[in-house]
Amino acid sequence: MIIAPSLLAANYTRLANDVARHRASGAEWLHLDIMDGHFVPNISFGPHLVKALRPLTRVFFDAHLMCSQPEILLPMFAEAGVDQITIHLELGDQVTPLLWKIRSLGCQVGLAVNPPTSIALAQPYLEQIDLLLVMTVNPGFGGQSFIYECLPKVQQAAAWRRERGLDYRIQVDGGINFQTAAECARAGADVFVSGTTLFGQRNLKAAVARMRKAVNSVGSRPSPVAAPARQG
Ligand code: DX5
Ligand code: ZN
Repeated sequence: MIIAPSLLAANYTRLANDVARHRASGAEWLHLDIMDGHFVPNISFGPHLVKALRPLTRVFFDAHLMCSQPEILLPMFAEAGVDQITIHLELGDQVTPLLWKIRSLGCQVGLAVNPPTSIALAQPYLEQIDLLLVMTVNPGFGGQSFIYECLPKVQQAAAWRRERGLDYRIQVDGGINFQTAAECARAGADVFVSGTTLFGQRNLKAAVARMRKAVNSVGSRPSPVAAPARQG
């Protein structure tokens, strides 16, 4: 189980301080929400800022690109030192070349699915990705409420992973608090992005530990069904 606090909910007047809090929190990943003002109706920050933060921590940088034209940004994020780049399934024909480009830049590859988009459209890509991000809010803003209708998508992603013997991670993002994190874990998620619920707490380390406990207590991914023993 991986806890990924989202920098979107950090204090932007004290970013270095919040990266230090993150470093001391025990969270494995730092989630970086990149918004372009076109794919989503908001703008966050870009590769220049990510590059400035990179020397402050060795933690895994998980970049989530909510951008209409990621191809122009991918080399810059790779150069800034991100470990994984997630692009959106809604980009249609662009998806295959983008996944290849991310891989060729030496980064892990993620694919995100928005709430209105059918999870079935992700099926052709499952063998090419390290992570499937099931969005649990419509992206663009932190602090929104978890959309429960997205939970069956997590279950479907976990079922495909089991049935096809694949090992992509299943990430959930949006409205993740201690309770919804546990419900997503039960459905099969193993990476939990949380902005408001984690960075909003004075004691980030305690909040990360509490979320970890919540997701571990429901058990992780269902183990693959053991093959029946051969008779005779
Ligand atoms: C939504 C972003 C999320 C966001 C989550 O557009 O992709 O990563 O930061 O924020 P909370 O946890 O506040 O819903
Ligand atoms: Zn995100």
